[in-house]
Amino acid sequence: MLGPDRGTPAIPAVPLAPKNPLPYRQRLTATRRFDTGLQALKKAGGPVTRIVLGPRWLMPPVALITSPQGARQVLGRTDGAVERGLTPMSWELRRLVGDNLLVVAHREWLPRRRALQPIFTKQNVRGFAGHMADIAEASSRRWRTGAEVDLDVQCRTLTLRALSRSVLGVDLDGRAGKIAAAMRAGTTWAADRALRPVNLPYWLPTGAQRRARAASATLRDLAAGILGSCRADQTREAPLVRALMEAIDPATDQPLSDRAICDELVLFMLAGHDTTSVALTYALWSLGYHRHLQERVLAEVSALGERRLVPEDVPRLGFTVQVLHEALRMCPPAPAVGRLVLRDIVVDGWRLEAGTFVIVGIHALHHDPAYWDDPSNFDPDRFDPQRCRGRDRWQYLPFGGGPRACIGDHFAMLEATLALATILRRVEVISLGDSFPTATPLTTIAATPIRARVRTRRLTLTP
Ligand code: HEM
Repeated sequence: MLGPDRGTPAIPAVPLAPKNPLPYRQRLTATRRFDTGLQALKKAGGPVTRIVLGPRWLMPPVALITSPQGARQVLGRTDGAVERGLTPMSWELRRLVGDNLLVVAHREWLPRRRALQPIFTKQNVRGFAGHMADIAEASSRRWRTGAEVDLDVQCRTLTLRALSRSVLGVDLDGRAGKIAAAMRAGTTWAADRALRPVNLPYWLPTGAQRRARAASATLRDLAAGILGSCRADQTREAPLVRALMEAIDPATDQPLSDRAICDELVLFMLAGHDTTSVALTYALWSLGYHRHLQERVLAEVSALGERRLVPEDVPRLGFTVQVLHEALRMCPPAPAVGRLVLRDIVVDGWRLEAGTFVIVGIHALHHDPAYWDDPSNFDPDRFDPQRCRGRDRWQYLPFGGGPRACIGDHFAMLEATLALATILRRVEVISLGDSFPTATPLTTIAATPIRARVRTRRLTLTP
């Protein structure tokens, strides 16, 4: 049987993606661990593998995709055959924090994305660079020579500050710990439910459900506070909040309700700082471990002189950017992304049936020896422009790909580059641990404090 474009087999004739051979319990636990677990499933089942965790009426079959071609055929498509807004993960997240860009279906997503995109263009985010550089400078200035710091806590505080001052118009200082705890409780609850064949009813007051509800209330209260202060002070610079206040809901032709604005703000708090923070923490930890690489970053930033760094410096911080690319490869903050298949599709030569929850394993892809030499070695030179030539764009996906890729990629890269360079010219970082333990409540986080000793360098900044 041939398909409409003749020569390609029609979808029903394409074999169904093969079942993953790992034993049931291993499959269940590995599916919930989005970095190493998905890597193990890939190793056992190949680049397209079907993971059956229960009968179809109980939960959708899961398919794991870990080839560049497969990633493109899932994430890159624009024919409406896959949808993020309908995945089990999106349903659970929506219960927790309401509708937002990450979880709504395509029709609702498109006008919101169009309304917010202009804030996050490469050109526009340059306007936030002053905040980013000043915040990194102030943070590292507080570190005393010989002190031990937790890089994870430091970087989370820094990135939350940068996000809140740049686009939210508030200072969320002192609340990084509270926000992180709420995010972790909430996302763990949502991801656990999305990948378990049987769940308790929502109304049952278990410890996890109580924690998730409290997390949701904390985040929504913070969002309401942000919106309230922007409404009260019309002069306050808060581009994201203002864009949401001006956006029109296509369903009603009216401005978004306060509830809808707050739901979106919660997403930006979730998606917009912990991710960048992990990338920065991993980069700093790696450079504190491979000190010869830290010297190379220092040499690069020292050549720029002793003044505040600006976006125009980024082209001269090529190695610093390579370090961040390598950190995002080794430890992608979004280790996996999901879509629901709405009608049968062919992915890398295998058929995925409608109703399948397809997961693209970004961490597994970034660590596959078929695409990367010595993938567990931290080697920023693999991102040297010469060596990148000819590399498949779909084998490296820290910010996802296709229409629903990250909106904050330019923001994150500018912030992380300025922060890394600014911190390293002020202090020398010596990592005290020889590994970077991670957990994946949803995004990748540091599972333990990331301890480092810092030694200040002599630096006199000119205004
Ligand atoms: C290193 C930092 C970051 C990483 C690795 C990252 C990664 C990602 C990935 C992989 C996606 C796509 C998810 C999917 O395909 O299902 C995504 C979506 C998203 N990210 Fe990021 N992100 C980062 C920083 C940010 C920042 C700084 C912001 C906002 C200021 C942000 C806001 C969002 C939003 C709103 C979405 C949903 C976009 C949409 O569907 O239109 N992210 N991010």
